[in-house]
Amino acid sequence: MSEPRIPLVAGNWKMYKGPAEARAFAEELLRQTTNDEGEMTKAGNPELAVFPPFTALPAVAEILRGTSISYGGQNCHWESSGAFTGETAPGFLAELGCQYVLVGHSERRSLFGETDETCRKKLAAAIAAGIEPVLCCGETLAEREADRTFDVIERQLRAALADPPPPGRFTVAYEPVWAIGTGRTATPVQAGEVHHFIREWLGRNISAEIGERTRLLYGGSVKPDNFGELMKQPDIDGALVGGASLQVTSFCSIAGAARSYLTGLI
Ligand code: PGA
Repeated sequence: MSEPRIPLVAGNWKMYKGPAEARAFAEELLRQTTNDEGEMTKAGNPELAVFPPFTALPAVAEILRGTSISYGGQNCHWESSGAFTGETAPGFLAELGCQYVLVGHSERRSLFGETDETCRKKLAAAIAAGIEPVLCCGETLAEREADRTFDVIERQLRAALADPPPPGRFTVAYEPVWAIGTGRTATPVQAGEVHHFIREWLGRNISAEIGERTRLLYGGSVKPDNFGELMKQPDIDGALVGGASLQVTSFCSIAGAARSYLTGLI
């Protein structure tokens, strides 16, 4: 019997919050989620993580390092150093105590030329640096309407994860491109069937154990009032949240919905 998957509620801040605002957020988040001993206040909590812009990471690390709240980078390069102006090596993120790094977010794929191949290299480099990559995948509206959703997801997974499989732990975030920042969330059934497909794919193409233990997050207009229903899908293990992660209250409400699910309240 494998261990139960601990849900993860992750906030992708994108290009919002400089160091001062990020520090205030981290302090408030810590205050709202921990008791005087620095422990999460309620049992059955999901893990929380924030993904600030690079320049805000040191401020966030100063507050959150050593606490139960995780943090990570929104991107990284695949080399450990070199003449790559403007890039950040995974080892630099590890030095700041980052536990995670996003790989292949749809905005990086569509706006900054991220390819399946660079995702593969970044994923392996992150693991080699001791950081857990969160591989993002998802179809566009045109691809969904052309009934190509599963083909696209399969291509993205295969490119990043197969032959050989990553030598360490990773998370997958399913983020339909048409749901990101649009206010249009996938229905629990739509999200659930893609998550199920991803889990089966991991089981078939990597190993039954990886299929069972890998966390699969849903992302795309997650809000406090829609997340509870999404969490009820058996293959959804948490959320990657953009807009609603920028305020401590809405981020904590989403974590609260996960907690209600975990403790059997919904
Ligand atoms: P959103 O963003 O929650 O604002 O839709 C999600 C993401 O891009 O990860």
